[in-house]
Amino acid sequence: MFIRRRTEEEIAQARADDTATDLIDAFARNDNRDAALSANDENRAMDENGEWLVMMGVCTHLGCVPLGDGAGDFGGWYCPCHGSHYDTSGRIRKGPAPENLPVPVAEFVDETTIKLG
Ligand code: FES
Repeated sequence: MFIRRRTEEEIAQARADDTATDLIDAFARNDNRDAALSANDENRAMDENGEWLVMMGVCTHLGCVPLGDGAGDFGGWYCPCHGSHYDTSGRIRKGPAPENLPVPVAEFVDETTIKLG
């Protein structure tokens, strides 16, 4: 599981890229929301201001664990197995992975606890 408390810069970059023409997967892939929602960052983050991002840490290509901490060409995650680059919203931007990193069912139960599933 990837849980990232994003910086203002990361949030701004993710939201600026909502209209990027190289978004490979058009859907939010967020199990907490309608499946038809777009991949806009606000549809993927846990909270309204986008500070918290929770995702399954499994590359959507063949299941390797992507590297984080700003890895890859888009400052998000990078899967070295076959070269998939994810942005700061966990959206696939380059490489063979077909879908954005999935957001599982998750909710804050208090200020410091996230319940998964
Ligand atoms: S498993 Fe991640 S790029 Fe292939």
